[in-house]
Parts: sequence; C-alpha cells; structure tokens
Amino acid sequence: MVKKIVIANWKMNPVSSKEAEKLFKDIAKNIYKIKKTQVVICAPFIYLDKLNKISKKLILGSQNAFMGETGPFTGEVSTEMVYNLGARYVILGHSERRALGEDNILINKKIKGALSSSLTPILCIGESVRDESHKYLDFVKNQIVECLAGINKNYISKMIIAYEPVWALSTTASRHDFNPAEFLEIKIFIKKILSDMFGSKVELPRIIYGGSANEKNAKDFLEKGEVDGFLVGGASLKSKKFLEIINITENAKY
Ligand code: PGA
Repeated sequence: MVKKIVIANWKMNPVSSKEAEKLFKDIAKNIYKIKKTQVVICAPFIYLDKLNKISKKLILGSQNAFMGETGPFTGEVSTEMVYNLGARYVILGHSERRALGEDNILINKKIKGALSSSLTPILCIGESVRDESHKYLDFVKNQIVECLAGINKNYISKMIIAYEPVWALSTTASRHDFNPAEFLEIKIFIKKILSDMFGSKVELPRIIYGGSANEKNAKDFLEKGEVDGFLVGGASLKSKKFLEIINITENAKY
C-alpha cells in the first residue's frame, strides 16, 4: 500500500537556525511510532544542511530550486545542490512563487530539472477564485497540462500533486469552508486529466491537500475527502499541531 505523506511548508520561517533546529527536533523525537506516513519538512535552503545532520527519520525538502547543477544564475540554488544537501523533495509551482512571476513553462522546466536530480517534485496547483461558471476547472487543467508537458509517464507516480486553492490558504483565505467533498471531486478531476494525458494505465501520483489544513479538519479530509496527505503551512510551525496532523493521518481509516 502506498504511504500517505504529510509535508511541512515552513515558508520563510523561522527567523534563526536555532529555532529551526528546535522545531525540527521537537518533531523528530515524536515520530518514532509513525510507520505508515512519510513526513517531509520543506525548510528554507540555508537550514537544510544542519537539519540533515539531526535526524534521518524526517525527510527534507526545499521550497524551490532552479534546474541544473551549476551556472550563471545569480541568486539561484540548483536542484543538484539541494539534492547534495540531503533534500529529497522540492515544492514547485507554489502559488506564492507564481505570484512572484513563475509560470507553468518555468515550473515545467524545474520539474524536469528536479526529476533529473532525483528529487521528488511536489507540484502545487490551484485556482485563485472559484467562479460559478466553473472556469476554474479549465484553469486547473491548464496548470496540469502545461506543468507536466513532455514528462515521461513513468515519473508521474513518483510525483506528488498538491491541490491548494489559493483562496483557502491560511494567510490569504477568502473562504473558510472548503470541504472534503469538494476535494474528492477535484481529485477525480485531476486523475482524469492525468489518464487523458498519460494513458489509462498510468500509475497515478499521490494527490494531497493544502490550504489551512490543520489538526481540526485533517480527519475529515482523510476519511471523507480521501486525501493522500497534506501540505501544511501555518500549522507546521507549531510542533504540537503538526504532530497531531501526522498522528491523525497515521490512524485514519482511508
Ligand atoms: P497554509 O499554507 O496551511 O498556511 O494554508 C499551505 C501552503 O501554502 O502550502
């Protein structure tokens, strides 16, 4: 059985290496009983090296990376560098990076770069608004089609797709009522797009939810929404809350 996955997106937090180590240790020392759930911490680049030396039970990821090994790209960090620091996952296409100008074409190149550096891409997709005429479905479809264009179908099952409606993120939420049934609907929609693109026999990736995921709504999303895991922002910065989400995922019936 494929394991569920709970991914922390620390974003631009915490402010010091000392605090990052403390948060990481608090999580690491409390997950020794977790067997059926993978736990990934996507920390700022500068903390990865130190965190990697603390515990191997937690898997590390970065929140971005530029394709390639080395080169004239001032300010960028390559997928190969991230891999060499011990990270195994990379968040790509997050709405906060899209808001800074990243488009599907660049994200597609980064996904290819990540795969060739043996990193697992966590591709974030999701609309900013839900319109009554359901144009948002075309928007999500287009994100998937463009971001995954030209990717070998054998890689699809190795990726993670994180559906994160921008309007449900804890920092920008305009609605607080996104519910598990709506997730299940979009999960089926995503699977259909992937089968149309890569053939009905393609092994599907894990499709996870992000957007104010927390210890209060996790159980419902798992059992009624059939999420394969979570991408957690705000609630991942408090070890107690994050550990609760991990435990709920581990013990969920779905
Ligand atoms: P949130 O963030 O859990 O704080 O809504 C999720 C994300 O942006 O990945």
